[in-house]
Amino acid sequence: MDIAGLFSLEGRVALVTGGSRNIGRWIAEGFIAQGAKVYISSRKADACEATAAELGPNCIALPQDVSTVEGCKALAARLAGGEPRLDILVNNAGAAWGEPFESFPEAGWDKVMDLNLKSPFFLTQALYPQLKAAAAGGRPAKVINISSIDGQRLNGWETYSYQASKAGLIHLTRRMAARLIADGIVVTSLAPGAFGSDMNKAARDHGDAVAKAIPAGRIGRPEDLAAAAVYLASRAGDYVVGDTVTVDGGLVNARIDTMIDG
Ligand SMILES: NC(=O)c1ccc[n+]([C@@H]2O[C@H](COP(=O)([O-])OP(=O)(O)OC[C@H]3O[C@@H](n4cnc5c(N)ncnc54)[C@H](OP(=O)(O)O)[C@@H]3O)[C@@H](O)[C@H]2O)c1
Repeated sequence: MDIAGLFSLEGRVALVTGGSRNIGRWIAEGFIAQGAKVYISSRKADACEATAAELGPNCIALPQDVSTVEGCKALAARLAGGEPRLDILVNNAGAAWGEPFESFPEAGWDKVMDLNLKSPFFLTQALYPQLKAAAAGGRPAKVINISSIDGQRLNGWETYSYQASKAGLIHLTRRMAARLIADGIVVTSLAPGAFGSDMNKAARDHGDAVAKAIPAGRIGRPEDLAAAAVYLASRAGDYVVGDTVTVDGGLVNARIDTMIDG
């Protein structure tokens, strides 16, 4: 067995939405290090291009808002202009909104649902010809949806639409996997725990305090997510279909909240 070869992404073409910073950027870095050519996308063109320049010649910026179906189609068309095949799509761009139940606004519902749940479906649909073309070469194409442990267990923050969107994305992953496996396209999801970022300012600014609640005793590091994404994207992860890989230091599956008999 060529174990190291199982994790290679040599010759693969990938697109990572929200690739300009934090989790998307770490995944893009991981893919590039394993030999892939990676397109990164986000709304702010300057940030996207600056990150692509930092990640080197195998990283290309394709700035685009993907929160609308029109935006998803535009991004797919631009990618298809240069690439007839897409081996790996990472639906990572995401947003959160926290507000008390009584005043939680429709805008906080729609913004989050549109980007976190609607966009992964319609971007995959828009890129279906390119994903299918990649899979026709005999190697499965991959769609990796970045969900969250907030879709697996309750979080005390009043982020109603966020938690619902991520639970929905985990189930949508299974439903899409069931359809797309027929075309050789493998759909999975990756559920991060606490990783310091612009979205997770608590982990970014108060990592030590957040770490106290995590069985592993620390918040996540960039390489924790890059490694899991490389696994799912490469030959190593070909037989993982429809599942969600949780990368959270044990918050969901290895933490005992209270000792209650029963
Ligand atoms: N950090 C965590 O602890 C954590 C935990 C669980 C799950 N996650 C998930 O991981 C993903 C990335 O989170 P993060 O923490 O890295 O967030 P982040 O630091 O806020 O980065 C979000 C990325 O998405 C892009 N983006 C936002 N809105 C967009 C839009 N409408 N169209 C295209 N791109 C857009 C941003 O760039 P622009 O602003 O330029 O568009 C940025 O590149 C999200 O899906 C999040 O829910 C994060």
